[in-house]
Amino acid sequence: MNDLFKSPLPIIAPSILAADLRNLERDVTQAVQGGAPWIHCDIMDGHFVPNISFGPAMVKTVRSITDTFLDVHLMISEPDRYIDDFARAGANMITVHIETCNHIHRTLQQIREHGCHTGVAVNPGTALSSLRAILHEVDMVLVMTVNPGFGGQKFIEYSYERLRAMRLVREEIQGSFYIQVDGGVSRDNARDIADAGADVLVAGSSVFGSSDIPAEVEALRNDAASGYRSMYV
Ligand code: DX5
Ligand code: ZN
Repeated sequence: MNDLFKSPLPIIAPSILAADLRNLERDVTQAVQGGAPWIHCDIMDGHFVPNISFGPAMVKTVRSITDTFLDVHLMISEPDRYIDDFARAGANMITVHIETCNHIHRTLQQIREHGCHTGVAVNPGTALSSLRAILHEVDMVLVMTVNPGFGGQKFIEYSYERLRAMRLVREEIQGSFYIQVDGGVSRDNARDIADAGADVLVAGSSVFGSSDIPAEVEALRNDAASGYRSMYV
């Protein structure tokens, strides 16, 4: 397993959905130079979510640019069909949506069998309790803070409550999974998001929309670190 999974927390994971695809190598390289130990790859099929983004070939391209940790977020129906493709393309973590899995325990097993870390994502309208049975099976829970499908949306405010609730559940079960947030993260809220319980913050437009990508990653990381309360204390 790629030891970048255990990078110092909190982690900023820039989402390439917002990158300049004409200059992907430049943008990804600058994000990593700015201190991002993970790159977040948003995979969308136009069926589970209204947008179509990219597939395994894009993950393979990003892997050819950097050897950093690739955090692949599958916003697709029937993800079981594609785990092998994304693992072969170079994913280090594969996150599936609970809403798309009839047999989530088996899907997570399949991801692990491919040598990848396991993540499960939950949409803003889905109860966190739907994850309860598999919390011991996952390396990360992704609490969506926008409705999935597009970058540049506004952070959904009641996500703070959900983050605090997720953090409490982890304490109760003595879990060690990371809590990730995804959508609407910026310099305005990174500190509060980390304070509420996020270990990994995905940021698309705030990073790749910046005129200074490395500086933006570093600033987001500093903001998040100033509010972060380690799960290990
Ligand atoms: C939305 C994606 C997010 C999004 C984040 O469905 O999962 O990763 O790209 O982008 P920003 O940071 O622009 O909200
Ligand atoms: Zn995402």
